[in-house]
Amino acid sequence: MIKVTNLHKTYTAGELEVKALRGVSLEIGRGEFIALAGPSGSGKTTLLNIIGCIDGADSGDVKIGEKSVMNLKKNDQAMFRRDNLGFVFQSYNLIPVLTAFENVAFSLNLMGIGEGDIRERTMAILKEVGLEGMENRRPGRLSGGQQQRVAIARAIVKNPEILLADEPTANLDSNTGREILELMKRLNQSHQSTFIFATHDPMVMDFADRLVRLHDGAIESDTRR
Ligand SMILES: Nc1ncnc2c1ncn2[C@@H]1O[C@H](COP(=O)(O)OP(=O)(O)OP(=O)(O)O)[C@@H](O)[C@H]1O
Ligand SMILES: [Mg+2]
Repeated sequence: MIKVTNLHKTYTAGELEVKALRGVSLEIGRGEFIALAGPSGSGKTTLLNIIGCIDGADSGDVKIGEKSVMNLKKNDQAMFRRDNLGFVFQSYNLIPVLTAFENVAFSLNLMGIGEGDIRERTMAILKEVGLEGMENRRPGRLSGGQQQRVAIARAIVKNPEILLADEPTANLDSNTGREILELMKRLNQSHQSTFIFATHDPMVMDFADRLVRLHDGAIESDTRR
């Protein structure tokens, strides 16, 4: 379902050139729950962002379904992202002035869905992530774990084909991290979305069905369990 072929990416910062990816190829099937691991600087975020159409590569290809997403125009890329991908970040990235409900509903608003429908889907997903009764709270009145639940609800409410998460447990204590992972696993199964995580967290690696280790911009190992 996702086919990454021979990706190369070099960042230039002044005189300095950093080879972030050197020929990464990877196939990911529908519904997989996959962790990208590896030392800091090994290219995890870079790879995640290229798959997520947030960043481009210098060469190579990313196909999602039948579509090559790398050569889409900016506008088409943004639409593709909106309709097919969900993102969860380390620092939640919620909009502070919006309530939990509004943060989640926001992504459906962008898709031009009717208001009744938005309300129903938003309430259902907030319940599914365990936030029933907290719909009207702003992020500042929620714990880190609850904020991450809102962020997950926001990402999954669109039923995206692919959910990408960069260090989703990094700001959480280990108990909360585990709850969040159990939630993600349930959602992975109930929504049949493909989940791809970049992570340093051994617990995330344990949870994943497949572990891809990067080193210096290349895949070092790829194991399923
Ligand atoms: N915007 C940028 N400009 C210059 N260099 C960058 C940029 N983004 C990443 N890099 C470099 O590319 C390499 C890969 O970075 P990347 O963020 O993908 O690593 P990572 O595996 O996600 O690391 P971490 O575990 O610390 O998040 C690193 O050497 C990094 O310094
Ligand atoms: Mg990173």
